[in-house]
Amino acid sequence: MSLQRKSKYPIDSLFTCRWSPRAFTGEPIDDTTLMSFFEAARWAPSSFNAQPWRFIYARRDTPAWAPLHDALNEFNRSWAHRASALVVVLSRTSWTPPGKTQPQPIPTHSFDTGAAWASLAFQATLKGWHAHAMGGFDREQLRQALGIPDDHAIEAMVAIGWRSDEPVLPEALQAREVMSQRLPLEQVVVEGRFGFGGVAAPAPVPVPSAQPVGEPDKAPA
Ligand SMILES: Cc1cc2nc3c(=O)[nH]c(=O)nc-3n(C[C@H](O)[C@H](O)[C@H](O)COP(=O)(O)O)c2cc1C
Repeated sequence: MSLQRKSKYPIDSLFTCRWSPRAFTGEPIDDTTLMSFFEAARWAPSSFNAQPWRFIYARRDTPAWAPLHDALNEFNRSWAHRASALVVVLSRTSWTPPGKTQPQPIPTHSFDTGAAWASLAFQATLKGWHAHAMGGFDREQLRQALGIPDDHAIEAMVAIGWRSDEPVLPEALQAREVMSQRLPLEQVVVEGRFGFGGVAAPAPVPVPSAQPVGEPDKAPA
């Protein structure tokens, strides 16, 4: 699959092999494998080592599944119901640093937690699994259902699954199961001072024996 993505400069194929398919088998994921993804996230860097990330997970076919699954929007439910696990990614927005007595805001809570999510996704890729982030869900419903306090931001949800080679998706979605490309490096990196113009995203490339990628949190047209 990495052959579909070419980097301009040499990088480990891990970075181009990670992608976000939607066609999952729904098979069970064992505890050690799932926990190894969170373990990878645990070692992410964070400002003051505050480690603001928190994860709530539910395995498919367990009582914990429904509240997470039901919070997804219709589009995401249409494919993520075949995930092996769903994860809610939270970040603490404040903490009490060592030596202090009063909680202080963590300005980097989302940045730090983004690094942790990326580590989770790369570890999943290393093990042949996929971690597909989702922004399309009802945050307030989730907050109520899972008892998430106000000092924890709900960053995203993640569907973890094993990719199916069968055409398990609805036709429109199946056609969108492609690895996406990236903006050229020159358009996202500049030396010295701001110098970015508006650019269109490159076209996606089809993936053999699979499907789509599209606007994640929108229903297919
Ligand atoms: C924060 C975030 C929210 C996303 N929301 C959704 C979503 O709601 N539904 C979906 O199908 N994909 C969603 N995606 C997946 C993106 O569309 C995908 O990561 C992006 O197109 C790049 O493709 P790749 O991950 O395959 O490289 C989301 C990704 C991120 C990081």
